[in-house]
Formats: sequence, structure tokens, C-alpha cells
Amino acid sequence: MKTILVTGGLGFIGSHTVVELQNIGFNVIIIDDLSNSKIRVLDSITEITGKKPTFHKIDLRNKETVKSFFDTNSIDGIIHFAAFKAVGESVQNPLDYYENNIGSLVYLLQEMRDRKIDNFIFSSSCTVYGQADELPITEKAPIKPAESPYGNTKQIGEEIIKDTCKANGLNAIALRYFNPIGAHDSVKIGELPLGVPQNLIPYVTQTAAGIREQLSVFGDDYDTPDGTAIRDYIHVVDLAKAHISALQRLLNKENKNNFECFNVGTGTGTSVLEIIQAFENATTQKLNYKIVERREGDITSAYADTTIANKELNWKTEKTLEEALKSAWEWQENQK
Ligand code: WQD
Repeated sequence: MKTILVTGGLGFIGSHTVVELQNIGFNVIIIDDLSNSKIRVLDSITEITGKKPTFHKIDLRNKETVKSFFDTNSIDGIIHFAAFKAVGESVQNPLDYYENNIGSLVYLLQEMRDRKIDNFIFSSSCTVYGQADELPITEKAPIKPAESPYGNTKQIGEEIIKDTCKANGLNAIALRYFNPIGAHDSVKIGELPLGVPQNLIPYVTQTAAGIREQLSVFGDDYDTPDGTAIRDYIHVVDLAKAHISALQRLLNKENKNNFECFNVGTGTGTSVLEIIQAFENATTQKLNYKIVERREGDITSAYADTTIANKELNWKTEKTLEEALKSAWEWQENQK
């Protein structure tokens, strides 16, 4: 039974990926510093799969702690989620983002290099494309100057991994996520934004639940059919399964280069107003919203060309937008 280290494994995407790894027989070790997650997620994962993952509360910025972890644990692969991810916060505190997101990545890669650990999956983001010139967005789309330190840490992270693969024979895959939403069918794990949600869907569900007074729609003067910005909203379980496919590609040595990138989305763009309509249809909850000014740094439209990921990862999305929105609402309801 192979052992996979999942950093950030108690977070939103990390916890859903741990469930899928355990469901197909991997032994999972989670490292999380609990800065943006809750320890109760460990019990929720255990309730879903019947197997309690090994957990270490570790701050990956501590080089010595990272080293001693690898002194005592034999790892066959790493899925690296652990990172700060709030775009706005990264503009306020760039050094925290560079220290955490880049520092922890470097320490992990140094241990992989020194101990000849192969198979690394990196949590990247479609944010590396900025506003792409062509839609849908393929992996060949040019990388644009980052709009935020958060986005920059993803771009720099990919470059660091690419250089390390080249120099040290490591094999790695970067998955460029579009917009992950929804929750596990069990309603035991989901998105747990701490404080005021930055992302659309948790703000939508908290508004519907009466926690937030009203949803602000950031701009309706974009060059899109209804004027609101378009994104590619992918069910978090579909996204989790893409990590399994990527890991198995590396474990089975099916990768064609030692560093590969894949766009992970549904391939369909949905506007903010369409999300609101779809949410109301899927949940019968009426949403109180108003149109306000654009949010600084937002792009007009982003949705994935999934051709390469579908083919090379032998993976495609199975869940619908309606299922994702319904699961997000059921998860919100379960938070009472
Ligand atoms: C989606 C759309 C907003 C909130 C960011 C990061 C990306 C990834 C996902 C981490 C936009 C609009 C939002 C609200 C709104 N993060 N919106 N009212 O900005 O596409 O992507 O989160 O991995 O890297 O860049 O996601 O959910 O914040 O916004 O109108 O209260 O919803 O303007 O058009 P985004 P989002």
C-alpha cells in the first residue's frame, strides 16, 4: 500500500482529495498547520471513509520540522495544497505569502531531492493566465504578469518545480484549478471560509442562510452577454478526482515530461448572474443581491479548454453545476 503525503489535507480541496485517496486504498498522511482549517475535518474524513488518516500539525515554514518529518516517514508521493490563498490578503501582506507559499515549497522539494522521493502534485491555479487572450484557455496560453502576490506564488512555484525536476530527475504535475465549489455528497466536508467569504459561492450560501445581509455582484459592465464576469465553476469532488488521476499517471510512469501542467475545469463558463439564477433554481432559495462596482483585479472571463486534461489524465468532470450548487447549499445548511 503506497503512502501519500497530503499537505493542507484538512482544507477544502485537500480534505476531498484525502477521501478519494483513501477510497482507492492509499495510506494517507496529512500535514496541516490549521491556519485555515479545523481539526474536526479529520474526524469528518474518518466518518466518510472509515479510516483515520495520520495527522501531523506542522508549519512547513520550519525547515527543521520538515526535515524531521521525513526522517521518520517513508513517502511514495506528495500532493501539496498547503498555501495561503486569499488574493486580497496577499496584496496587503505579500511577504507572508512569499515566505509561506514559496518557503514551504522549497523545503518540501529539498527533502524530496535529498531522499529521492518522486511524484509531486502541485496545487496551481488558472490565475497564472490572468485575462487570457483566447477562450477557452489551453495549457499553451501565455502566462501573464501576476495580478497579485498570491497569483505570483503560483507562477513562481511552477517555475521552481520545473527547475527542480530538470536538475534532480523529479517527476511533477501542476494542476491549474479553475473555480472549485460544492461539497462532498455526505455533507460532512465542504468549504469552511474563516471570516467574511472572499469567494462567490460561500458568500451566496451564507446570504441564502441569512448570515450575510445581501450579496454584492461585483460589476455588470463587463464585456459578457449579461455584463457580469464569467468563471469555470468545477465541483470539488471532480477536482479531487483529477488529483488521483494525476498521481496515478506519475506512479505508473505514464507522464511524457518530468514536469507537466493541466487545466482542471469543466470547460463551461458561467456568469455571476447565471450562478445566482442556477442557485435559486437548484435550491428554491431566493437570493438578495445588488449590483455594485467591479472588484479590483478581477478579470472578465476564464474557462478551461479541457481537451488535454481529459485525454492525458483520462479524467473528466462528472458532476453538474446544479449538483455543485445544491451540495454547497446542503453543506451550508449543515453548518447550523
Ligand atoms: C468569482 C466571481 C467575482 C464574490 C479566486 C482566485 C483563484 C481561486 C478562486 C484560490 C468573480 C464575483 C465574488 C462576491 C461577486 N482561489 N464575486 N461577489 O476571483 O474567480 O478566483 O478564487 O485558489 O485563484 O483568483 O473567484 O469566487 O472570488 O469570484 O460578484 O461576493 O464572482 O467578481 O467574477 P475568482 P471568486
